[in-house]
Amino acid sequence: MNTTIREWLAMESACDAVVVQGWVRTRRDSKAFSFLELNDGSCLRNLQCVVDAGVPGYDRIAECTTGAAVRVEGRLVASPGGAQKWEVRATALELVGGADETFPLQKKGHTPEFLRTVAHLRPRTNLYGSIFRVRSRLSYAVHRFFQERGFFHVHTPILTASDCEGAGEMFRVTTLPAGEDDFAKDFFARQAFLTVSGQLEGETFATALGRIYTFGPTFRAENSNTTRHAAEFWMIEPEMAFCDLAGDMETAEAQVKYLARAMLEESPEELEFLNKFVDKGLRERLEFVAGRPFERLPYAEAVDILQRSGRTFEYPVEYGQNLQSEHERWLTEEHCRCPVTVFDYPKEIKPFYMRLNDDGRTVAAMDLLVPGIGEIVGGSQREERLDVLRANMARHHLSEESYWWYVDLRRYGSVPHAGYGLGFERLLMLVTGVSNIRDVIPFARTPGHCEF
Ligand code: 4AD
Ligand code: MG
Repeated sequence: MNTTIREWLAMESACDAVVVQGWVRTRRDSKAFSFLELNDGSCLRNLQCVVDAGVPGYDRIAECTTGAAVRVEGRLVASPGGAQKWEVRATALELVGGADETFPLQKKGHTPEFLRTVAHLRPRTNLYGSIFRVRSRLSYAVHRFFQERGFFHVHTPILTASDCEGAGEMFRVTTLPAGEDDFAKDFFARQAFLTVSGQLEGETFATALGRIYTFGPTFRAENSNTTRHAAEFWMIEPEMAFCDLAGDMETAEAQVKYLARAMLEESPEELEFLNKFVDKGLRERLEFVAGRPFERLPYAEAVDILQRSGRTFEYPVEYGQNLQSEHERWLTEEHCRCPVTVFDYPKEIKPFYMRLNDDGRTVAAMDLLVPGIGEIVGGSQREERLDVLRANMARHHLSEESYWWYVDLRRYGSVPHAGYGLGFERLLMLVTGVSNIRDVIPFARTPGHCEF
């Protein structure tokens, strides 16, 4: 493997034989030499290479334009300019792959809207390079959080026959010719879909391995064109045996704090860049999220506070209705001024698997709301009592035959258990300050968009 620019820039001392391979960000020529600013994606910073007119390969310097791939051999020396510690004095230059004047990223300052139309090239910009390096590190931090706490990673299926959320937002998977709908003849001899959540399968493993988590792609055919919804997104779903709603909320809050801290500590360059160019309040908000306690509010109290807020919302606030994103954001941004976990929702607006509270009207559900986004986590304690689960399923018109294996968990060694789903893209929006979900996922799938 070649040494990356990140590694060269971290060198303790000058170095005689270095090889740098990357893409030209800019080139400046003078009579006797040229400056090449190279970036190889390993970090935000470029490595400046000074190429004298006489060095082998200089005859092709005119083709070393913005976007071209080059290889430079030379010496790593202290940079006299002072803007960076090191620069490279080239002893040889090789044009690896040219990029002509049609390369779309010639200049800085393109809008995110334009850059979405060149999603195959946008990771080569400072902004998207930063976002996707952060995405990778945060993904690792998610695994670390769980592995440090004794959770096992379970790979739940992407193809499934069950609708976990019961919202009817599933993409169908079929090999039947268009027009045919005899599912007995279909590939799986039944209707199949892309999963909306790994939870139900996750529960089977939690009641075997104790603490588990899934972290994978999930799919929702909800036709909502918002800045917070994607048709394909990654969800982090822990599931814990012998755990109640309080333990569930504690874990979710601890995880959001842990990941905010990870952003502060592990991506300092990207944080500085994002804080400067994307969201000037980012660092302060991350410090706040990582360091200060969150609030908790029962749903009934949240509704009461909203109704007494004196605010006119687009959607009215009524007990028994889902909180809209404007309500969620007002609670966390204006009322609490910190992340807040709303819990104990009316059973009518929540899925069949949530545990019925003793009041008979609410379920042990929770949503964690954060400023700028609203809901980032949705979870609950699960109904572990066979008779109550059956009644819930009947109320939701779910057939016990299709979920027989899920019901079985309540027949054999049933235990109180709980879990949640943390949307990975929404988490990335929180820690990068990026306000559109389309900009934190490599190739966004939204209604009407599946090009790349
Ligand atoms: O609240 P949701 O629908 O919960 C579940 O799917 C549960 N089965 C999770 C569980 O208890 N294991 O989704 C969980 C989170 C949301 O809070 C949100 O962060 C994210 O997933 N999410 C989306 N993110 C992007 N685009 C969408 N269309 C999303 N829908 C949900
Ligand atoms: Mg939810």
